[in-house]
Amino acid sequence: MAYIVVATSNAHKVDEYKKLLADQNVELKSLLDYPGFPGVEEDGKTFAENAAIKALAACKYCDVPAFADDSGLEVEALDGRPGVYSSRYADSDPERIAKLLGELEGKENRRARFVCAISIAINGEVIETFEGEVKGTITLAPRGEGGFGYDPVFQPDGYDQTFGELSQEIKNSISHRADAFRKALEFVEDEMSVLDNEF
Ligand code: IMP
Repeated sequence: MAYIVVATSNAHKVDEYKKLLADQNVELKSLLDYPGFPGVEEDGKTFAENAAIKALAACKYCDVPAFADDSGLEVEALDGRPGVYSSRYADSDPERIAKLLGELEGKENRRARFVCAISIAINGEVIETFEGEVKGTITLAPRGEGGFGYDPVFQPDGYDQTFGELSQEIKNSISHRADAFRKALEFVEDEMSVLDNEF
């Protein structure tokens, strides 16, 4: 069977990608299967650059086709911040949310989008990078216990609930990650022969 490595050690993400790949004739491995992976500095200036850095490092280390994602929240009134610094914006999810709501206090424009870039690397080269997004607004206060990160303060367009309140199933069908992944999958399906290798 063809297989591919996702460049993450985050079991939650591995599970999410396994679900997204469930109908495909492809086996998903992750860096959990390669415990010796030394890690890599995510010093890119864009989501696409960081995704490419991670995909390439995993592809070279594991010597198999690999993909990686990088994602974050861009807020219009903050000129796109926190952006690629979304996870480094503050030390914990509650602190990140509190800081964001503080920065937006008194601002009328609460438009924002989640962005996800997915890069695919094969034979030691990044061959494609895809970008997905979901647009919405930042709520005045956190709502809901589900999801992670900024989910409790992000209300996607077309819904009355935040990502923290919506089911995992709905979030996974409209999220930035699902959007980028759909584009990547279309590409992989067309190019499936390049993944035809033995583990
Ligand atoms: P990474 O791509 O896993 O490094 O995620 C970067 C950061 O962006 C996360 O730590 C979260 O703070 C934020 N983020 C990315 N995707 C989501 C999401 O789906 N919901 C909430 N926060 C997210």
